[in-house]
This record gives sequence, C-alpha cells and structure tokens, in this order.
Amino acid sequence: MSARTRLAALPSAGLGTWPTPLQRLDRFSEDVGAEIWIKRDDIQGVALAGNKIRKFEVVLGQAIADGYDTLVTTGARQSNSARTGAAAAAALGLDCVLVLSGTEPAEASANLLLDHLLGAEVRFAGNVSWTELNDLVDEVVAERNAAGSRAFAAPVGCSSPLGSLGFARAFDEIDRQLTELDLHAEAIVHASTSGGTHAGLLVGRQVCDRSTRLVAVDVGRISNRPARTLAKMAAASAELIGLTLDLDPASVEVVEDQLGPGYAVPTEAGNAAIRRLARTEAILVDPVYSAKGLAGLIAMIERGEVSGPVVFWHTGGYHALFDPELALSSSGSS
Ligand SMILES: Cc1ncc(COP(=O)(O)O)c(C=O)c1O
Repeated sequence: MSARTRLAALPSAGLGTWPTPLQRLDRFSEDVGAEIWIKRDDIQGVALAGNKIRKFEVVLGQAIADGYDTLVTTGARQSNSARTGAAAAAALGLDCVLVLSGTEPAEASANLLLDHLLGAEVRFAGNVSWTELNDLVDEVVAERNAAGSRAFAAPVGCSSPLGSLGFARAFDEIDRQLTELDLHAEAIVHASTSGGTHAGLLVGRQVCDRSTRLVAVDVGRISNRPARTLAKMAAASAELIGLTLDLDPASVEVVEDQLGPGYAVPTEAGNAAIRRLARTEAILVDPVYSAKGLAGLIAMIERGEVSGPVVFWHTGGYHALFDPELALSSSGSS
C-alpha cells in the first residue's frame, strides 16, 4: 500500500467540510505587491475550529474506533486547540476535560467562554510549563479512568504523530486544488507553535512529491531549535504511514522574527497585518497566531524572500479578537 493510500485510509471523525476554499486575494495582493492566495481553514469545522480540527478529526476518529468516551486535552487559557477539542467532543457526544495554564479569570471571554458553552469541564493549572501541563493531563486521564470512564489524552496543540497526519492529509487536499487551478505556488506560509501543522505539511509534501517551499512562522517558541524539532516530528508522523522522512533541519524553513515579546503578546506588525487584511478583503486574522503568521509573510515579501504566487494558510483563531486582554484599538490606522 502506498503512503498516499495509507493517508487516505486514516480514521476520520467527520468533523470538517473538505476541501476548505483556496482563494486568490486580489486586493490584498495589490496592496502587498505579490500574488497571494489564502487557504481558508478559518471557516470550517465545528465552532469555526481552525487548523486544530484537522488533527482532532484523525485523533478522535481513532479514539472512537478504540472505544474511548472522554477527551482530556490542554493548552493556554485562551487555547484554540483546547476550544477545538471541546467543540469536537460536544459534536461527537464525548466528555471533555480541559487542563489550562493560568488562573481562572473573574469573567470568561473569547475561547474560554466557548469552552464553557461547549460543555467542557475546565481545570486551571496555574503558571506551569507545557511539559507540566502534559503531565497534569495524564493525571486527569488516570483519575477519570479510575472513576470508570475510558479517557485518553491529546497533547498541547493535538500535535501527536497521529494528529499531525491530519495536516499531511491537508497537503494532499491543497495539492489537488493547485493541480486543478494549474497554480504553481512558490511557498505556503503559516503560523506555527507546537509544530504539528508544519510537521504534517512536510509529510504531505513528500507524499505528494511537490517542491513547494513550506514556511513556518514561529509564534510560540515552544522549542529552542524549532527546525530540528519539526524535522523530528515529521519523521515520527511519516513512520505511521510507512514513509521514511529524514529531513535535514537546514531545509526546514522557520521564520523566527515575528514572535515579538512572547507568545500571545500582540505585536505592531501583527496588528498592522490584521487591519490590512480586514480592510482589503474583510478576512479576519487573530493577534496570537494568524496575524503574526501573515506579518511574517509580508516581511518576507518586503525583503524579497518570496515573489509569489504564495499561499497563506489561514489557520484560524480569530475568536481571540474578542479577548479584552488582546484588544486592538478600533481607531488604529495601520
Ligand atoms: C490559529 C492557530 N494557528 C496556528 C497554530 C499553530 O499550529 P501548531 O500548534 O500545529 O504549530 C495554532 C495552535 O494553537 C492556532 O491556534
């Protein structure tokens, strides 16, 4: 069986509407001076899920086949991934426990508000590291299982080797769209943190035998050596579909200058990108992820590092626009 057939045969919980649109951005392209296309993962799946639904679709498809009834997952207080897990669990009739870093705010807003609306049990872990969060998830799984549930864990960003394969399947999806449009995309650019999105795209590119550049704009600095981490993650995912993928980390393209002061801290370039896309195309990106990803693409165009056509993979996340702590001023002019 070929790797492509194995990819197609992966389990699926049926949570998304595929393919997501691939659209040419006429007015934005004119504004930035390069031909830009957008892959609209922001407008599909349960509760406008964004990129994480591709991972949960595979992971929950497998979990249901294996007889699990409770999802335990994790992230930051305003995690898109955790909110997507809560939405996916609600749609599939699973119980969901979210272990979130930070402390409980007086009032829940944005993603946290949605976590509650979607019926998840939310537990706050205080100010702990990503590793400690994953350990706490394992503790909750053990606790739930001791109480008679069949619980399983999905890590930060749902970026397990299996979860990342959701994005290998996504590359297969865009490969077909590019062929149909006869579009030769020079690069695909997207926001990256836990790495599953990029690792999966790297696997998918190999499966589809394309040479399109893949550019991860690091907006979380989860790893000190992101290119090496991404190459390793891609190898682990590829193995699951019988593929050997031994990438030289030097060939993995990571943009590291868009993080700004830190994860979830808005930047001027990111906020400018939000306004630029909103005012030319009425498409929304969020200050934590997709805006910084888009700012990375704009900077690459300005530095002459890409000329186009380029695909900006909109990974979603605009629920964070409604978090008062991240609020943009409505009067901003750039
Ligand atoms: C909107 C959005 N974009 C991009 C990412 C990064 O994806 P990954 O964690 O697979 O690197 C995330 C992760 O939470 C996200 O929520």
